[in-house]
Amino acid sequence: MVEARRSVRYLSGADLDRLGLGMGELVDILEEAFRAKAAGEVTMPPKIFFHRGGPRFYSSMVCASPALGYAGCKWQSGDPANPAIGLPYIQGLYILTEDATGRMCAVMDAEWITGKRTAAASGLVIRHLAKAGGRTLGILGCGVQARAHLEAVHAVRPRFDECLCYDIVPERRDRFVAEMTGRFGFGSVRGLSGPEEVARNSDVLVTGGPIEKDRKPVIRPDWIGPGALVVTIDYDSYVTDEAIRAMDLVLTDDFGQIEDARLNEGKFPGVARVDSTLAELVAHGKGARTSDAQRILAFNLGIALEDLATAVALLERARREGVGTMLPIRA
Ligand SMILES: NC(=O)c1ccc[n+]([C@@H]2O[C@H](COP(=O)([O-])OP(=O)(O)OC[C@H]3O[C@@H](n4cnc5c(N)ncnc54)[C@H](O)[C@@H]3O)[C@@H](O)[C@H]2O)c1
Repeated sequence: MVEARRSVRYLSGADLDRLGLGMGELVDILEEAFRAKAAGEVTMPPKIFFHRGGPRFYSSMVCASPALGYAGCKWQSGDPANPAIGLPYIQGLYILTEDATGRMCAVMDAEWITGKRTAAASGLVIRHLAKAGGRTLGILGCGVQARAHLEAVHAVRPRFDECLCYDIVPERRDRFVAEMTGRFGFGSVRGLSGPEEVARNSDVLVTGGPIEKDRKPVIRPDWIGPGALVVTIDYDSYVTDEAIRAMDLVLTDDFGQIEDARLNEGKFPGVARVDSTLAELVAHGKGARTSDAQRILAFNLGIALEDLATAVALLERARREGVGTMLPIRA
């Protein structure tokens, strides 16, 4: 028993794949986690995020939740130049700890967690805020997140069957079109030559270019049609301050996180008001759409609670199914 207590379960990306946690399940898991947050059952200081030259960054994200029974920490790096040398933009490791005892339980590949939970969090926003009857998803940036977002949109809005996409690297856009056409209910996936045409024709627009140190946003207010929902996963890198101000509703996944990014990183200078948070939306309906004409913007910065809830679900499955490698903390 003592040996078991002094070991951690290591879960590689391949191990996590084998566990088969579906995107729809993950959206539900995050919805529960945001309800716990609304009930005050989550401790989550703002993430530490700093650039390491240009758009490259490090971040560290911690969270504890007695409701979930665990605490955890993600350490990651980001570099948009990495895919060109065969490495992912985002790389990281996650450490999971039992809350009651502080015992270290698991170390896992955080690239997997970030890849899935980010799209699942967008899925949660889309479930609650996309107008009824939409069918066209716009994607800016055709990488890891773009692929996961098709799956997430399908999980929450299976009627979506058209995707319009743009990438500054045309070959990446074309590869995305070839790979994703016909997947997750998207019978039509079309690559366009600029972001404007994508934005203007989307019911839901996801911006997933790089998080820039010195942003050069291009999305103007008139690019966003009546009733559209914009979900940014690249902070405010793509949307102009004018567009932000023109929105009927502005939400974020965590108020403290966006305030911290404003104060300490100089980001989000154009955000004059935040109407609600994802936790308030799912728990109390605050910030919900009240008309099909409203234009809504959600800044999904990505928060530690999403990582924690995902990691807990993965660990529980891994324990049930005997997946992973036990590593001694002390030999
Ligand atoms: N908010 C969150 O929770 C969260 C989590 C993970 C990643 N992200 C962010 O999402 C973004 C995408 O991450 P990823 O893992 O998919 O990266 P990725 O490298 O796999 O894909 C990004 C794609 O964007 C393209 N691109 C670069 N500049 C562009 C521009 N101006 N317009 C259109 N396309 C452009 C690149 O060519 C690349 O194909 C990054 O900014 C990353 O930091 C956010």
